[in-house]
Amino acid sequence: MTNEIQNFKGERMLQRAKELDSFWAYNTDELPKDKQLLLLDNVQFIYELALAQLELQSLGVRFEVTNGLREFKLIETKNEEELQKKLAYFKFVKGKPTYYFQIIQKNRTRSVNQYLTHWIYPYKGKFHPQMIRALLNITGLGWGNTVLDPFIGSGTTAVEAQLLGINCLGIDVSPLCVLQSKVKTESIDVLPQIREWKEEITKRIKPSLFNLEGKTIDDAINLIPDEKAKNFYRMAKLVAISDNARRGREFSNAFLKNLEVMISSVSDYIEIIKKLNLKLGKMDIKTGDSRALPLNKESIDGIVTSPPYSIALDYVLNDAHALKELGYDLSEIREEFVGVRGKGQTRIDLYNEDMKKSLEEMFRVLKPKKYAVIVIGNATYMGQEVKTVEFTINYAEKIGFKLVKNIDKIIFGLYNVMQKENILVFQKV
Ligand SMILES: C[S@@+](CC[C@H](N)C(=O)[O-])C[C@H]1O[C@@H](n2cnc3c(N)ncnc32)[C@H](O)[C@@H]1O
Repeated sequence: MTNEIQNFKGERMLQRAKELDSFWAYNTDELPKDKQLLLLDNVQFIYELALAQLELQSLGVRFEVTNGLREFKLIETKNEEELQKKLAYFKFVKGKPTYYFQIIQKNRTRSVNQYLTHWIYPYKGKFHPQMIRALLNITGLGWGNTVLDPFIGSGTTAVEAQLLGINCLGIDVSPLCVLQSKVKTESIDVLPQIREWKEEITKRIKPSLFNLEGKTIDDAINLIPDEKAKNFYRMAKLVAISDNARRGREFSNAFLKNLEVMISSVSDYIEIIKKLNLKLGKMDIKTGDSRALPLNKESIDGIVTSPPYSIALDYVLNDAHALKELGYDLSEIREEFVGVRGKGQTRIDLYNEDMKKSLEEMFRVLKPKKYAVIVIGNATYMGQEVKTVEFTINYAEKIGFKLVKNIDKIIFGLYNVMQKENILVFQKV
């Protein structure tokens, strides 16, 4: 743990948990040597148990579920070390802590799944990172392969692929999403430059004797020569703007506080890479349109993605303040987004047309026999359920995908418009 900040939220949670002697996420004191495969304590749902079993199967393990479903007996495996390195839902493999269990301990937030840089920017509709790690394993992706997420959003697929040594091509129509995804995965390359610019940037935050020339924070950010370090500070500003708009926090305090936590999270990421000697995947994240992917036919080893759930969330409206801050015209940018154009039935029809094109593009760029995982749910619009899941399955099968798994995933309280989402695993046959 670095000394960058002393009293971060996760630390308080950690202290409290120590007092209570109860918090699962960080308890590495005792390594139960006799436990062959022990699930992480946060695994609670049936879909998670299903994914845990699928990831074992995909890694060629023969196993038996024992003891209240939380412990698995390992009957046969070719490579124990591989399990320790890759598994997403397990805490121990034959008494040794998994890499994932060690990674999630690097957390500066109160939320167990917002470890490392995942927390940066409060984006609505983020994937559960643990599930993505499992899905990358299940689809057989490994070191040197390339995964595509044509709706990269806040970059969850990118971070998880990077950690597993899988190259990731992330595309999103929203420049805010591209920025988030880049910052989460690229800031580790420029931590010294980020630290070097900290004083120069923070002194612009509050007018003082040292800032007599009246330069703004933007002026200082624009002076940063390194693009990745510049992106880091642009993001830090957006996080503070969001804190100010959504939670009413005073901008300069929010900026200074978030900046410290962001720097600490990047430093955590670097520490865990060193500790576990991780070989990272290469990242290629850019703005683009899922309906016309800038990729050659059959060039991708796997797809893991979550498109807009029909019209459940207006991504343009939701991030309006940040998109404006980045200099975009909202009505112009809206034209490119899936699921936010038109009204009433027209909106649903346009969504379906856009999704058909996106599915065709996914099919075109995927290599034969490889998998595309699409996480999607039905939304309720004007009192009626829009059957997006059925639509996706029908159209994907029409163009040549085969549905090989359909896992129900119950979700709680997402804007009151969704109750269930599905993990659809398609194979290009
Ligand atoms: C459900 S979110 C993805 C969330 C992501 N899985 C995560 O973990 O943050 C859907 C994303 O689709 C993006 N999107 C909408 N229309 C698009 C288009 N035409 N091409 C690419 N991305 C688009 C939105 O900006 C949004 O980020």
